[in-house]
Amino acid sequence: MLDTAHRGQTWPVSIAPMMDRTDRHYRYCMRQITRHTLLYTEMITTAALLHGDRNKLLGFSEAEKPLALQLGGDDPAHLATCARLAEDWGYDEVNLNVGCPSDRVQHGHFGACLMAQPALVARCVAAMRQATTLPVTVKHRIGIDDLDRYEDMANFVHTVAQAGCDRFVVHARKAVLQGLRPRENRTVPPLRYDDVYRLKADFPTLHIEINGGITTLLQATAHLQYVDGAMLGRAAYDHPYLFAAADALCFGDAALPHTRRQMLDAILSYLECWMAQGLPPYRIVRHLLNLFAYQRAARLWKRALSECTWAPETAVAALRGAIGLVPDEVLDAQPQTAEHAIVF
Ligand SMILES: Cc1cc2nc3c(=O)[nH]c(=O)nc-3n(C[C@H](O)[C@H](O)[C@H](O)COP(=O)(O)O)c2cc1C
Repeated sequence: MLDTAHRGQTWPVSIAPMMDRTDRHYRYCMRQITRHTLLYTEMITTAALLHGDRNKLLGFSEAEKPLALQLGGDDPAHLATCARLAEDWGYDEVNLNVGCPSDRVQHGHFGACLMAQPALVARCVAAMRQATTLPVTVKHRIGIDDLDRYEDMANFVHTVAQAGCDRFVVHARKAVLQGLRPRENRTVPPLRYDDVYRLKADFPTLHIEINGGITTLLQATAHLQYVDGAMLGRAAYDHPYLFAAADALCFGDAALPHTRRQMLDAILSYLECWMAQGLPPYRIVRHLLNLFAYQRAARLWKRALSECTWAPETAVAALRGAIGLVPDEVLDAQPQTAEHAIVF
């Protein structure tokens, strides 16, 4: 039976799709830190899903939910098939990427360049909505190249909303499609949060989430005065334990989050389970490198993890050894009350 527990729900905070980062193991790690934050897959192209190994591309563990699948593509029929797959596999949402500026993606004619074709995106959304009962959402930029006036974005959102999309995640930077690398497209064009606030004011019935440059939950909640949700990307990877405050601060859940020690205990069992299936341990351990960011144990921890060879026979002992290097007061630190737990 399909799990529809999260249907119709919206989230004040989410962790962004990130290629090569937000794989199932990262998501499992983050789920030990926050129970409620919406998690995304990295972008999966329709071509990969239609022709590739679906078990590998779509597999996730129930513990990762609520979970959104992000798709990359521009063919309404292909996207519809993939949206149906998302539902069959038990995802909670399907999201269309209209923000990626990479050359590879541009050659495939999807991602950010689709902002120039709102009618095509509307057709894609309409086809996806016909194929699934899941919420269909769009993640886009505030603009691309010369198509960067507020009115251009408003026109894009208006057109796509008419096809039935009522949730948009807006990366508050335009994308420069020629001349900037993807990394530069996340730093060079200036952030224009006011454009996203204005979008919400002009389209009050749409759910508008803001993304780009948010580094603390305090900043995230400040945005919530103007928009419905905030999505964090790099901060969630560079400082994952930041999210230990999310359940209390953003979801009103007073239950204490896991300490880092409790989180690592869960990961040790998870690691053993996956190694038994032949997974190289570093595929999981790499996501732990930043667990002690901003703590005095940070450098020690990173060095300990980086210097291990991560052979399957010794991985559990190596991880236990690295944990043993961290002072107890850091491992067992209880996140502060919500008011204080903005950065720790
Ligand atoms: C390594 C990396 C990979 C990314 N991959 C994707 C992706 O697959 N899909 C997507 O929509 N955005 C992707 N992004 C963009 C992020 O989702 C987000 O929009 C961007 O990093 C800005 O948010 P931030 O300032 O909170 O990091 C990626 C970002 C990074 C750093």
